[in-house]
Amino acid sequence: MKAFAVCAALLALAGWQLVGQVAKGKTRPLETKIWMKTVNGPHCSTLAKMLKAGPADDKEWGDVKTHAQMLSESGHVLMADGRCPDKVWADASKQLQEGGAAVAAAASSKDLEGARSALNNSVLASCKGCHGAHRVKK
Ligand code: HEC
Repeated sequence: MKAFAVCAALLALAGWQLVGQVAKGKTRPLETKIWMKTVNGPHCSTLAKMLKAGPADDKEWGDVKTHAQMLSESGHVLMADGRCPDKVWADASKQLQEGGAAVAAAASSKDLEGARSALNNSVLASCKGCHGAHRVKK
């Protein structure tokens, strides 16, 4: 009985992992790591730096909006091509979609506090939420 339970749990785990690909989608070549390195990492760190300093002029507010829109879209890409393995991933991706959109909206009205709060409470929380469960530790 005990051995059966362990076996069933292992099978369930194996089946669960086949549901989503995590490191890569099912049909397209893009590796999650490449997306992180070229999109999430750079857009997020530039956005955080800009909001820390506070955008100086219209051009910089426009740049804030650009980075925020890219991060929001990334939340959709992460759900595409069978990459999503579970609810933690899905919730974090949704949080990235909405958090990026909220920063972009705040940038449209040059609301620095609103942009900072959406960055901290939603965008950065989404990175942390997904990485906590799915990023391979090195
Ligand atoms: C829905 C899941 C998910 C979300 C949300 C997410 N990441 Fe990741 N991230 C991953 C996974 C999975 C890896 C590990 C990929 C691998 O090594 O195969 C990773 C790795 C990374 C890496 C390391 C890339 C490398 O060179 O090895 C960076 C940088 C990164 N993420 C930045 C971010 C930032 C910044 C955010 C938030 C704006 C974010 N990620 C949100 C899943 C996510």
